[in-house]
Amino acid sequence: MKKMKILGICGSPRNGNSEFALKFLLKDIRGKNIEKKIVLLRTLKINFKESMLAKKVIHGYLKDDVDKIFDKMKQADIIALSCPTYFDMPPALMKIFIDRCSPFYYKPVLKGKKAILLVCGGAKVGEGYIEANMKNLIEFCKMIKLNIIAKIVFSADSKNEASKNSKLKSQLKSLAKKLSK
Ligand SMILES: Cc1cc2nc3c(=O)[nH]c(=O)nc-3n(C[C@H](O)[C@H](O)[C@H](O)COP(=O)(O)O)c2cc1C
Repeated sequence: MKKMKILGICGSPRNGNSEFALKFLLKDIRGKNIEKKIVLLRTLKINFKESMLAKKVIHGYLKDDVDKIFDKMKQADIIALSCPTYFDMPPALMKIFIDRCSPFYYKPVLKGKKAILLVCGGAKVGEGYIEANMKNLIEFCKMIKLNIIAKIVFSADSKNEASKNSKLKSQLKSLAKKLSK
């Protein structure tokens, strides 16, 4: 039986709510044929050069850790992205990674892979702020032709708040159950 590979990518600059939610989700996805990996962007070197935006080269362009992430993305069946909201947007760490994904827009080699989006913010769910950030991630996924299978927005501000959010945990558990084999 073919393995189902799940890759989590966290774009928070701290080990806080986004990281908690992503790890909680992945931990609860169970099955013999499931392989799970997590990439914490905060631990990696991601360079940026304006000129690269015109490039369609996927590998070896800026000689940093992005090559390794791209390899994992290409191997994955499901890519789960998790990040906080900063001024209604993804934080710079996540955004720089998104910008580096520009080759996947020109060459949609990730087309059809499944995506899960987890977005948190200090605002309340429904006020529109965290949702505005989620909209950015949805558009990004559409542009690189990922197929979004789940979206979760949740409210959490202080560092460990998400771990006390029982609604979030039950949403993540039910998603994990659906993905378990
Ligand atoms: C620079 C900055 C800007 C922020 N802007 C927003 C915002 O626009 N809307 C919001 O709901 N929360 C905002 N927040 C709160 C964070 O989204 C919140 O603290 C979140 O839990 C951080 O997630 P993390 O623990 O995964 O890093 C902001 C926080 C920072 C540091």
